[in-house]
Amino acid sequence: MTNQSKPKYYLTTPIYYVNDRPHIGHAYTTLACDFLARFKRLDGYDVCFLTGTDEHGQKVEKAAHDAGVSPQDFTDSVSQNFRDLTDSLNFSNDDFIRTTESRHKVACQTLWDLLRERGHLTLGSYSGWYATRDEAFYSETELVDGKAPTGAPVEWVEEPSYFFNLSQWQDRLLAFYEANPDFVGPDSRFNEVKSFVAGGLRDLSVSRASFKWGVSVPNDDDHVMYVWLDALTNYITATGWPADGSFGDVEKYARLWPADLHMVGKDILRFHAVYWPAFLMAADLPLPKRVFAHGWWTNEGQKISKSLGNAIDPLELAEQYGLDQMRYFLMREVPFGKDGDYSAQAIIHRINGDLANDLGNLSQRVLSMVFKNFDGKMPAFPDQPTTEDRVLVAAADALLPAVREKMDRQAFHEALRLIWQVIADANRYVDTAAPWVLKKTDPARMAEVLAVLAEIIRQVAILIQALMPASAEKMLDQLGVATDKRSFAQIGGAKRLAKGHIIAKPEPIFPRYIGEGAV
Ligand code: MSP
Repeated sequence: MTNQSKPKYYLTTPIYYVNDRPHIGHAYTTLACDFLARFKRLDGYDVCFLTGTDEHGQKVEKAAHDAGVSPQDFTDSVSQNFRDLTDSLNFSNDDFIRTTESRHKVACQTLWDLLRERGHLTLGSYSGWYATRDEAFYSETELVDGKAPTGAPVEWVEEPSYFFNLSQWQDRLLAFYEANPDFVGPDSRFNEVKSFVAGGLRDLSVSRASFKWGVSVPNDDDHVMYVWLDALTNYITATGWPADGSFGDVEKYARLWPADLHMVGKDILRFHAVYWPAFLMAADLPLPKRVFAHGWWTNEGQKISKSLGNAIDPLELAEQYGLDQMRYFLMREVPFGKDGDYSAQAIIHRINGDLANDLGNLSQRVLSMVFKNFDGKMPAFPDQPTTEDRVLVAAADALLPAVREKMDRQAFHEALRLIWQVIADANRYVDTAAPWVLKKTDPARMAEVLAVLAEIIRQVAILIQALMPASAEKMLDQLGVATDKRSFAQIGGAKRLAKGHIIAKPEPIFPRYIGEGAV
């Protein structure tokens, strides 16, 4: 199939502030998107997966100032750290956008002009509270003990500002939510968004006049755009919008926009589910199909914060435990959408249990027996499968649609739970069938049992490529599955390994973790 004839899937991570080094929270959002992007590619979609860096605004300007370098030099170097992370963590993003790029400035200014031409922007003056850490405006009534509701310090700001007429969009937003019940996930978060909007919206200050590090407002050099208007626009910039602009790409924009999914953390849902759709409606542009808000990680029970200095470095985790092991843990341990706690004990438990014992041993045991007893050639799949054979194979054959349904709802932990259920079934089957005993008592049956098990391993390995690409590749190499036979089109009955199919010498793929903290 050519890319043009495949269905498209466009998904985005938030773009990361370059005021800080990447930590586990950043890696988490991008990993979730990577898992989904790879899954969709294997499932026959033409995927565009976008990530990048959010480089303007007061927060970044201040970080550059504190580091004693110009904002441009500062953002160049920190943005590079985020770009490097995508390679180190094996993220498969198709593009990496920086808001300081010209293509992005053009898109921001075009969006601004559309909003202004349609009468949605007015020049006024802002006086109120601003939290640089959140890059957000707060009213007096929102403050809690003199701080933002997020705990961020606030300062009083009084300056000329353009306002977007957000208050006019309440009814249209509510009608849109009503008509699009899947627009925000999880449901509990969607309810929060709806009540926020139902409670009434105030016009939004969308420009700043007291500093310069931003995209300038067209025809008014005294103002730079509010960093969130600038940042949100990245999602449409990357599609080649505006199609008639200097960086435009008519075909790409038409194919990619609207986005299928914006993945965000719960702290920035309001910007994506309220402000962004309002800006797009006001500019007469199509709205994204879905926004999903995931939860936050704590570290051994404590909130992760700069002042506590307890940020978890994803590169160190990958180094210590293995990259695919870390990727598995982050997606499996916590129901996606809920908050979760990182602990060394929890990751070791997952590595030694789910990976080393359940999947690693299964694959190693089965492939070693095939390798040793059948000269590295697959025995035939049973002509007349027993009930046990049928039940196990049927469970594996039924996985893809069930897993797909979970992935489409971003229930990543559930998708993995379903796969590991089949792995558990296979482990029970191998214990009951005891092929090492059959070797002496009924070698023909032993051959059938191993063929059934190899089929389960093949299907599982194909499915887990999306999350653990390197390990799954090793498993499929050992099974001798050709590289063009690894997509989801290969799952199910018609594609089983034929008798005589040659496998490679098996090597353990998921070693037990026996380092520091192991019990
Ligand atoms: N620049 C804005 C996003 C603009 S999108 C148009 C921003 N950047 S951020 O770098 O502060 O945060 C990016 C993402 O990291 C958010 O989705 C946030 O939820 C996530 N996380 C930051 N700390 C986190 C944890 N401790 N746990 C999980 N995710 C966390 O916001």
